[in-house]
Amino acid sequence: MQAEIQNEEDKNIQETLSKIKYKIAILSGKGGTGKTTVTVNIAQTLANKGFSVGVLDADITGPNIPLMFGAEFEQLSTEDNKIVPIEAHGVKIISMEFLLEDKSKAIIWRGPMKIKGLKQLIADVKWGELDFLIIDLPPGSSDEPLSIVQTIKDLDGMIVVTTPQEVSLLDITKSINFAEVTNTPVIGIVENMSGFVCPHCGETTNIFKKDGGKNIAEQLSIEFLGAVPLIPAICVAGDVGKPAVLVDEDSESIFLQITEKMEEILNSKDS
Ligand SMILES: Nc1ncnc2c1ncn2[C@@H]1O[C@H](COP(=O)(O)OP(=O)(O)OP(=O)(O)O)[C@@H](O)[C@H]1O
Ligand SMILES: [Mg+2]
Repeated sequence: MQAEIQNEEDKNIQETLSKIKYKIAILSGKGGTGKTTVTVNIAQTLANKGFSVGVLDADITGPNIPLMFGAEFEQLSTEDNKIVPIEAHGVKIISMEFLLEDKSKAIIWRGPMKIKGLKQLIADVKWGELDFLIIDLPPGSSDEPLSIVQTIKDLDGMIVVTTPQEVSLLDITKSINFAEVTNTPVIGIVENMSGFVCPHCGETTNIFKKDGGKNIAEQLSIEFLGAVPLIPAICVAGDVGKPAVLVDEDSESIFLQITEKMEEILNSKDS
């Protein structure tokens, strides 16, 4: 009986995922590098270009996607026994946060429960036809992101987010290893928090050094998708629930370049 339910669930997952053209996970070797920021802004850039885009907040213990899209108080509804994703700024989003009664309470789930919850977020969601599903993974390369990727299977690729310091760069090798173990191609590296341009004098200060991500991409023969400087508007936008690309021209052009590079790489793999 248990096996039957599981098969049914796996079938539902495969059916849902088969309607999605590209499934891309955003990961990093450790927390706080800007995965959610990169997820939100790539997704919004794709939506602005006219693609149908979904975001799956797979960070079950620390879901931040609803907040960054200004959708944290939205209520989920169902249609044909499936959960309808929340639409924010033209992007469909789904997160465990929407299922929580008390959003200030921490989610303390043991491993198998997390995966069960996540499976439901995929199998029971009415994503419909999507061009892109961008998946925000929990930090690191531990069991949790691993089982998430194994649940989703058939990812088209991963984007690794790093900051430019040596310690963060060390973590890239873990992410690459993670991609190998899960049989997922690495689309490329994004270097976040790459220098700070003073809004008053225009001078750049490389707070966390610079070009570390770019250099390591070269060393490992991985594509470099682009660098995102520390931009106050990115932080403010995240807090007020609007992707920075909607409110800040610099962010818009930086993420447009990153997204177009990503599209180019995906297209070249298709041909
Ligand atoms: N380039 C940037 N400029 C300014 N602020 C940034 C930038 N990138 C990220 N931030 C801010 O840094 C904080 C951490 O970013 P974010 O939540 O995207 O990281 P994360 O890798 O998803 O973290 P976690 O591992 O906890 O999920 C957020 O407040 C975000 O707004
Ligand atoms: Mg995050």
